[in-house]
Amino acid sequence: MDKRPIGVFDSGLGGLTAVRQLRRLLPGEDIVYFGDTGRVPYGSRGRSTILQYARQDIRFLLSRDVKFIMAACGTVSSTYPDEEAAQLPVPYAGVVDAAARAAAKVTKNRRLGVIGTAATIRSGSYVARLHKLLPDAEIIARACPLFVPLVENGFVDDGNRVTKLVIEQYLTEVRDAGVDTLILGCTHYPLLKKMIGDFVGEEVRLIDPGKEAAIALASRLTPMGLENGRTQGGTVHYYVSDTPDTFAELETLFLGQYAGGPVQQIAIENC
Ligand code: DGL
Repeated sequence: MDKRPIGVFDSGLGGLTAVRQLRRLLPGEDIVYFGDTGRVPYGSRGRSTILQYARQDIRFLLSRDVKFIMAACGTVSSTYPDEEAAQLPVPYAGVVDAAARAAAKVTKNRRLGVIGTAATIRSGSYVARLHKLLPDAEIIARACPLFVPLVENGFVDDGNRVTKLVIEQYLTEVRDAGVDTLILGCTHYPLLKKMIGDFVGEEVRLIDPGKEAAIALASRLTPMGLENGRTQGGTVHYYVSDTPDTFAELETLFLGQYAGGPVQQIAIENC
């Protein structure tokens, strides 16, 4: 049993899609969330900058005495080295492994699509994991760099004309490749799930990485002796690196019924 909170971070608010699932699956757990809203997006940056940011985010969460760290960010998950994660004083998980496993489980025709930020797609992380699980799979991977700013600016209402055009621009080739499963490889993208689903067709299974990572974490807590023993009453404390106002505007969109909890601004570059 461990009463410490679970630490979750993302470059911005996308990781809240994982928090939402953690709240649903583990309502008794306390969570500390850090969203680097002052430096989002990470996905268009180079590897060394992403690593520097990820290390600061992790140091901040460790300073909050967390018992587990989840990188609820496809970009960090694809960049932060396993060997470095293994040296952390608490267990660490990203989203790539859980999402790839879920996709490998549901595909029937072994044709899969992966979309993500430029850094995620460049890293080849999802493709490598999928090929390990399904060596004969055909995989089409595409970077969709405009999706994150669209989501962070709330352009997610069903039928939004700008977002629709961008989806068409990025996903026509993926749709035409005949995939039956599409990994939404960035934790912001599930906010566009309805519109992406309408475009690629209802027969294509969409994999939500934050959700899959939350399910994987929930199943590991008790075997690791880290569950806090409560079945409800968990709290969430949010930290952001830019003004909390934007967070307040968008939190219901991301968290739905689980919105609420204190939001505080911190200076992440000092970590
Ligand atoms: N949610 C992050 C991810 O999953 C967004 C990336 C970004 O900041 O560009 O990749």
